[in-house]
Amino acid sequence: MTKAEIGLIGLGVMGSNLALNIAEKGQKIAVFNRTTSRTTAFAKDAGALSDMIVPCETIEELAKAIRPPRPIILMVQAGAAVDEQIAHLKPVLQANDIIIDAGNANFRDTVRRFKELEGTGLTFIGMGVSGGEEGARHGPSIMVGGAEESYARVEPTLTAISAKYNGEPCSAWLGPDGAGHFVKTIHNGIEYADMQMIAEIYGILRDGLGMKAKEIGEIFHGWNKGRLNSYLIEITANVLAAEDPKTGRPVVDVILDRAGQKGTGKWSVIEAQTLGVPATAIEAAVAARVISSMKDERLKAEAAYGIAAPKLGKEVVADLELALFAGKISAYAQGFAVMSAASREFNWNLPLPTIAKIWRAGCIIRSQFLGTIAEAFGKDASVPNLLMAPAFIGMMKEASPALRRVVARAAEAGLPVPALASALAYFDAYRQGRGTSNLIQGQRDFFGAHGFERIDAEGAHHGPWGSGAE
Ligand code: 6PG
Repeated sequence: MTKAEIGLIGLGVMGSNLALNIAEKGQKIAVFNRTTSRTTAFAKDAGALSDMIVPCETIEELAKAIRPPRPIILMVQAGAAVDEQIAHLKPVLQANDIIIDAGNANFRDTVRRFKELEGTGLTFIGMGVSGGEEGARHGPSIMVGGAEESYARVEPTLTAISAKYNGEPCSAWLGPDGAGHFVKTIHNGIEYADMQMIAEIYGILRDGLGMKAKEIGEIFHGWNKGRLNSYLIEITANVLAAEDPKTGRPVVDVILDRAGQKGTGKWSVIEAQTLGVPATAIEAAVAARVISSMKDERLKAEAAYGIAAPKLGKEVVADLELALFAGKISAYAQGFAVMSAASREFNWNLPLPTIAKIWRAGCIIRSQFLGTIAEAFGKDASVPNLLMAPAFIGMMKEASPALRRVVARAAEAGLPVPALASALAYFDAYRQGRGTSNLIQGQRDFFGAHGFERIDAEGAHHGPWGSGAE
């Protein structure tokens, strides 16, 4: 019997769909799940694909079923479960076999696992897989970190199963060790910001203009034909149009306004802060999810302060599409700035144009907009920030006035728009040649003699307030 090309452990939603995708592309795959009945059922339900699937009841059987060097995908809960699986696999694998963590791992864990496997002969790949269940089954965006030679062994499989944009595979090797998982984390951070800004625009239409879900859904549906065309705008229109089978009401109206988060958005913010790169729209989006989880407290606060009863004029609708577009530019500029900084910090040499390209299809933030970003970075990869790419200077000049008007009107009306406001403030601060931190330097020197630079002389100086020598 021909050996399997690759193995996979963990037949949950993502793992089973990824395995079916691999089998469908003609790559024989050996599969294992801790619960054997799950493995058996998976192989049985695979229908016409079952002859490309080798169900294995033990890890030993799994290893034996794969063509050396053996790549084995782990699609298990991020964290300790990955370390447990690595420990189980080590005794049954041989030199050059490859363990591939395809979960949403924290890249720092991936870097640690790389180091722990050094000298064992085994190699490791940290692989970000984006696109949810649909993506896993029919074509995700795949962000690979690891040794290039390890990638070479699995490249045909990953290219075959990845999403395609105009025929180009949305799968790439991005750099060593944790590079792939880091990029996936920032993808999720951008996803949080994108989703939050969309929710803020929804809030303006619902609370500021009293529109119903169906009508709002039609507006998003229309925007999906223009510059905001993207998976998130598409599904927003679908979610808003969906009816609750139980009540017949728009399902969005019966969903509790308390957002979950598995942690990748938070990690994005932690790493941005650690790198010293402002990611204010992503930070605002994570904070907004935390505030949304404080439902009881918010109800009490509403009772204490009264309900914001905003009434906005219909003219604001004309600004919303461009406002969201400007917010998106700012948020994506932040995400790419964090990746640039990480690339320098960890010496990864992250290919920003490639990252934008493999995000054009398959992943949750997929959109034609990413093609524009790929072009911008392709023209000049040294551009310090997307906001300084010529194409984006033009777009931001056109779109930012609408963002400004929308943030101002929402603020006046008491409608929370933290991500849109943060995106605007980031833009305003970034393009302000003479900011106000001269006053902060004065304050710091006044109370702490921390010294300051002068605009008319070199070196460190102190102010004439007696707290430090001039
Ligand atoms: C993706 C998604 C996915 C994410 C879930 C839940 O790229 O396919 O981002 O990786 O884990 O969407 O994420 P949160 O619970 O953090 O929203």
